[in-house]
Amino acid sequence: MESIYGEHLPKLEEIRLEMENRISKIREEIRENVGMDTIEHCLSRIKSEESMREKCRRKHLPETAESALKIIHDAIGFRIVCAFVDDVYTIRDRLTAFEDCKIIKEKDYIRHAKSNGYRSYHMILQVRGAYYVEFQLRTISMDTWAALEHHLKYKKEIKNEELIIQELKRCADELASTDITMQTIRDMILE
Ligand code: GTP
Ligand code: MG
Repeated sequence: MESIYGEHLPKLEEIRLEMENRISKIREEIRENVGMDTIEHCLSRIKSEESMREKCRRKHLPETAESALKIIHDAIGFRIVCAFVDDVYTIRDRLTAFEDCKIIKEKDYIRHAKSNGYRSYHMILQVRGAYYVEFQLRTISMDTWAALEHHLKYKKEIKNEELIIQELKRCADELASTDITMQTIRDMILE
Protein backbone atom coordinates (compact mmCIF):
# COMPACT_ATOMS: atom_id res chain seq x y z
CA MET A 1 0.00 0.00 0.00
CA GLU A 2 1.23 3.51 -0.83
CA SER A 3 2.17 5.81 2.05
CA ILE A 4 -0.61 8.14 3.15
CA TYR A 5 1.97 10.92 2.87
CA GLY A 6 2.46 10.14 -0.83
CA GLU A 7 5.72 11.66 -2.08
CA HIS A 8 5.95 14.04 0.87
CA LEU A 9 7.66 11.76 3.38
CA PRO A 10 11.27 12.92 2.64
CA LYS A 11 10.12 16.55 2.85
CA LEU A 12 8.45 15.90 6.21
CA GLU A 13 11.66 14.35 7.48
CA GLU A 14 13.65 17.33 6.17
CA ILE A 15 11.41 19.81 8.00
CA ARG A 16 11.52 17.76 11.18
CA LEU A 17 15.34 17.77 11.08
CA GLU A 18 15.49 21.47 10.27
CA MET A 19 13.33 22.29 13.29
CA GLU A 20 15.37 19.89 15.47
CA ASN A 21 18.54 21.77 14.47
CA ARG A 22 16.99 25.14 15.13
CA ILE A 23 15.89 24.02 18.59
CA SER A 24 19.39 22.72 19.36
CA LYS A 25 20.86 26.08 18.34
CA ILE A 26 18.39 28.04 20.47
CA ARG A 27 19.18 25.79 23.40
CA GLU A 28 22.93 26.18 22.94
CA GLU A 29 22.68 29.94 22.58
CA ILE A 30 20.63 30.36 25.76
CA ARG A 31 22.99 28.05 27.64
CA GLU A 32 25.92 30.26 26.67
CA ASN A 33 24.14 33.50 27.59
CA VAL A 34 22.37 32.48 30.79
CA GLY A 35 24.54 29.59 31.91
CA MET A 36 21.48 27.40 32.41
CA ASP A 37 19.71 24.87 30.27
CA THR A 38 16.16 25.86 29.32
CA ILE A 39 15.30 22.60 27.62
CA GLU A 40 15.31 19.37 29.55
CA HIS A 41 14.66 17.28 26.46
CA CYS A 42 13.06 17.49 23.04
CA LEU A 43 11.33 14.68 21.19
CA SER A 44 10.07 14.75 17.66
CA ARG A 45 8.37 12.30 15.35
CA ILE A 46 6.56 11.86 12.09
CA LYS A 47 3.17 10.38 12.88
CA SER A 48 3.20 6.73 11.86
CA GLU A 49 1.29 5.53 8.85
CA GLU A 50 -1.04 3.53 11.06
CA SER A 51 -1.83 6.35 13.53
CA MET A 52 -2.40 8.82 10.72
CA ARG A 53 -4.84 6.49 8.97
CA GLU A 54 -6.60 5.81 12.26
CA LYS A 55 -6.90 9.57 12.88
CA CYS A 56 -8.37 10.12 9.39
CA ARG A 57 -10.99 7.47 10.06
CA ARG A 58 -11.75 8.92 13.48
CA LYS A 59 -12.30 12.33 11.91
CA HIS A 60 -14.31 10.90 8.99
CA LEU A 61 -11.71 12.09 6.47
CA PRO A 62 -10.61 10.17 3.38
CA GLU A 63 -7.25 8.45 3.87
CA THR A 64 -5.34 10.75 1.52
CA ALA A 65 -2.19 12.90 1.56
CA GLU A 66 -4.49 15.94 1.45
CA SER A 67 -6.11 14.91 4.76
CA ALA A 68 -2.79 13.91 6.34
CA LEU A 69 -0.93 17.08 5.41
CA LYS A 70 -3.48 19.85 4.99
CA ILE A 71 -6.41 19.04 7.25
CA ILE A 72 -4.63 17.19 10.03
CA HIS A 73 -1.82 19.34 11.37
CA ASP A 74 0.24 16.96 13.45
CA ALA A 75 2.03 14.81 10.86
CA ILE A 76 5.19 16.39 12.30
CA GLY A 77 5.15 16.69 16.06
CA PHE A 78 7.50 18.09 18.70
CA ARG A 79 7.36 17.77 22.44
CA ILE A 80 9.71 20.16 24.17
CA VAL A 81 10.11 19.66 27.89
CA CYS A 82 11.49 22.73 29.63
CA ALA A 83 12.99 23.14 33.04
CA PHE A 84 10.80 26.06 34.15
CA VAL A 85 7.50 27.68 33.16
CA ASP A 86 9.15 30.85 31.79
CA ASP A 87 11.32 28.72 29.52
CA VAL A 88 8.20 27.41 27.78
CA TYR A 89 7.32 30.95 26.70
CA THR A 90 10.94 31.81 25.84
CA ILE A 91 11.12 28.84 23.50
CA ARG A 92 7.68 29.63 22.10
CA ASP A 93 8.76 33.18 21.25
CA ARG A 94 11.96 31.97 19.59
CA LEU A 95 10.08 29.46 17.44
CA THR A 96 7.44 31.92 16.28
CA ALA A 97 10.16 34.46 15.40
CA PHE A 98 11.45 32.44 12.43
CA GLU A 99 10.53 34.18 9.18
CA ASP A 100 9.20 31.00 7.60
CA CYS A 101 7.12 29.95 10.62
CA LYS A 102 3.59 31.24 10.89
CA ILE A 103 1.42 30.56 13.90
CA ILE A 104 -1.83 28.89 12.87
CA LYS A 105 -3.31 27.87 16.18
CA GLU A 106 -2.39 27.99 19.84
CA LYS A 107 -3.88 26.54 22.97
CA ASP A 108 -2.46 27.67 26.24
CA TYR A 109 -3.39 24.92 28.68
CA ILE A 110 -0.86 26.39 31.11
CA ARG A 111 -2.78 29.62 31.67
CA HIS A 112 -6.04 27.74 31.15
CA ALA A 113 -5.59 24.20 32.43
CA LYS A 114 -7.98 21.53 31.22
CA SER A 115 -10.61 20.44 33.73
CA ASN A 116 -8.68 17.21 34.43
CA GLY A 117 -5.60 19.27 35.38
CA TYR A 118 -3.69 18.81 32.09
CA ARG A 119 -1.22 21.61 31.44
CA SER A 120 0.90 22.30 28.36
CA TYR A 121 1.29 24.96 25.74
CA HIS A 122 0.22 23.70 22.29
CA MET A 123 0.73 25.41 18.96
CA ILE A 124 0.59 24.63 15.27
CA LEU A 125 3.12 26.38 13.05
CA GLN A 126 2.94 26.51 9.30
CA VAL A 127 6.49 26.09 8.07
CA ARG A 128 7.65 27.33 4.66
CA GLY A 129 4.08 28.05 3.65
CA ALA A 130 3.22 24.42 3.16
CA TYR A 131 3.83 22.07 6.07
CA TYR A 132 2.30 22.04 9.51
CA VAL A 133 4.15 21.23 12.69
CA GLU A 134 2.55 20.63 16.08
CA PHE A 135 4.46 21.70 19.18
CA GLN A 136 3.70 20.71 22.73
CA LEU A 137 5.72 22.66 25.27
CA ARG A 138 5.62 21.86 28.96
CA THR A 139 7.67 21.69 32.14
CA ILE A 140 9.16 18.53 33.61
CA SER A 141 6.35 18.31 36.19
CA MET A 142 3.66 18.79 33.56
CA ASP A 143 5.31 16.05 31.51
CA THR A 144 5.45 13.65 34.43
CA TRP A 145 1.79 14.25 35.17
CA ALA A 146 0.73 13.80 31.52
CA ALA A 147 2.60 10.50 31.31
CA LEU A 148 0.83 9.13 34.36
CA GLU A 149 -2.58 10.40 33.32
CA HIS A 150 -2.06 8.90 29.86
CA HIS A 151 -2.02 5.42 31.41
CA LEU A 152 -5.56 5.93 32.65
CA LYS A 153 -6.87 6.17 29.09
CA TYR A 154 -5.44 2.81 28.14
CA LYS A 155 -6.60 0.98 31.18
CA LYS A 156 -10.09 -0.38 30.99
CA GLU A 157 -12.29 -0.99 33.99
CA ILE A 158 -10.49 1.12 36.51
CA LYS A 159 -11.53 0.74 40.11
CA ASN A 160 -12.21 3.97 41.98
CA GLU A 161 -12.07 5.96 38.76
CA GLU A 162 -13.75 9.01 40.29
CA LEU A 163 -11.25 9.11 43.13
CA ILE A 164 -8.29 8.65 40.77
CA ILE A 165 -9.43 11.51 38.54
CA GLN A 166 -9.91 13.71 41.57
CA GLU A 167 -6.49 12.82 43.01
CA LEU A 168 -4.77 13.36 39.65
CA LYS A 169 -6.35 16.78 39.42
CA ARG A 170 -5.07 17.59 42.90
CA CYS A 171 -1.56 16.43 41.92
CA ALA A 172 -1.67 18.60 38.78
CA ASP A 173 -2.57 21.67 40.82
CA GLU A 174 0.09 20.96 43.43
CA LEU A 175 2.70 20.47 40.72
CA ALA A 176 1.66 23.74 39.09
CA SER A 177 2.05 25.53 42.38
CA THR A 178 5.49 23.94 42.90
CA ASP A 179 6.50 24.97 39.34
CA ILE A 180 5.77 28.59 40.25
CA THR A 181 7.82 28.34 43.45
CA MET A 182 10.71 26.69 41.59
CA GLN A 183 10.58 29.45 38.99
CA THR A 184 10.80 32.07 41.75
CA ILE A 185 13.78 30.30 43.30
CA ARG A 186 15.57 30.23 39.97
CA ASP A 187 14.89 33.94 39.40
CA MET A 188 16.39 34.67 42.83
CA ILE A 189 19.49 32.60 41.99
CA LEU A 190 19.93 34.35 38.65
CA GLU A 191 19.54 37.82 40.12
P1 GTP B 1 -6.54 16.14 17.98
O1 GTP B 1 -7.43 16.35 16.83
O2 GTP B 1 -6.58 14.74 18.55
O3 GTP B 1 -5.13 16.61 17.71
O4 GTP B 1 -7.16 17.02 19.09
P2 GTP B 1 -6.91 18.55 19.47
O5 GTP B 1 -6.02 19.21 18.50
O6 GTP B 1 -8.22 19.14 19.82
O7 GTP B 1 -6.16 18.26 20.82
P3 GTP B 1 -5.20 19.08 21.74
O8 GTP B 1 -4.35 20.06 20.98
O9 GTP B 1 -5.96 19.56 22.90
O10 GTP B 1 -4.29 17.86 22.24
C1 GTP B 1 -3.50 17.12 21.37
C2 GTP B 1 -2.49 16.28 22.15
O11 GTP B 1 -2.18 16.84 23.43
C3 GTP B 1 -2.93 14.87 22.47
O12 GTP B 1 -2.67 14.00 21.42
C4 GTP B 1 -2.08 14.54 23.71
O13 GTP B 1 -0.75 14.20 23.33
C5 GTP B 1 -2.03 15.86 24.42
N1 GTP B 1 -3.13 16.00 25.40
C6 GTP B 1 -4.22 16.79 25.30
N2 GTP B 1 -5.01 16.67 26.37
C7 GTP B 1 -4.41 15.76 27.18
C8 GTP B 1 -4.79 15.20 28.46
O14 GTP B 1 -5.81 15.50 29.05
N3 GTP B 1 -3.91 14.30 28.99
C9 GTP B 1 -2.76 13.93 28.38
N4 GTP B 1 -1.98 13.02 28.98
N5 GTP B 1 -2.40 14.43 27.17
C10 GTP B 1 -3.22 15.33 26.58
MG1 MG C 1 -3.95 18.20 17.79
